Amino acid sequence: MIEEDFLEAAADFPEPFRLWMRDELPSSHDEAMRLAHQGAAEGAIILVERQTAGRGRRGAAWFSSPKKSLAFSLILRPQEAKALWPRLALAAGLAVAEAIEDCGIQALVKWPNDVWIGERKVAGILVDAAEQFVIIGIGINVNCTEFPDEIAHLATSLCQENGNYEISRSSVLAAIIYRLAIRRQQIDADFPVMIAAIRQRCALSGRRAHLSTAHGEMFGRVLGISDAGELIFQTQDTTHHLIQAHSIQLLDEDLDD
Ligand code: BTN
Repeated sequence: MIEEDFLEAAADFPEPFRLWMRDELPSSHDEAMRLAHQGAAEGAIILVERQTAGRGRRGAAWFSSPKKSLAFSLILRPQEAKALWPRLALAAGLAVAEAIEDCGIQALVKWPNDVWIGERKVAGILVDAAEQFVIIGIGINVNCTEFPDEIAHLATSLCQENGNYEISRSSVLAAIIYRLAIRRQQIDADFPVMIAAIRQRCALSGRRAHLSTAHGEMFGRVLGISDAGELIFQTQDTTHHLIQAHSIQLLDEDLDD
């Protein structure tokens, strides 16, 4: 069973967040999507201890470890114009980075919404929108000390970055929900506030990168994040490009000159 202290933490979640716990699911994301289609309310959080088919972005599998990771998906039914909904992905990445900072660990947002500590990924976020709702799925390595070989050189956990001291998963979940409740309100008029906070934690600014876009591959340098939340990318011919989150894959950073 999932530890009892999740229930205690959930008692203090801000409105409209409510916790639903499951011992095992193929994917909390798919379950949240199913429940949302059935009319589940805004704010439902599906937290799962064991994911047997966790999904990452672009069809990748997502590793999570029972009792060590956090894997959950939540349902939002935003009132803002649909064109603004993609900003929720940025809000989620920022909220996770801020929650990690609440644990005393410096975190970076790797645009659009991976979260890094130093040069390693500690959390990933998957966002899917349907006609009436958005599902935000968050996976975070809290107390993991071992990773599958394929990701061992890329991944880290809060515990590993905390001198191998375990961190309470329910506190991390509570911090993420608290931060997200604030940042999700900033996708419209207060978006500049959110963007300023992301810029302060931008892992890619100033770095050389290799992007794959619908129009082919691009090599260049990341200049920063635009006021609209796009990646500002300068290609080798010095042209500036504004890159939308859904349209690229970052293949490499810090390429050799
Ligand atoms: C990524 O970085 O590729 C995104 C990873 C998202 C993983 C989370 S874990 C909870 C939720 N359920 C899933 O199947 N995926 C997301």
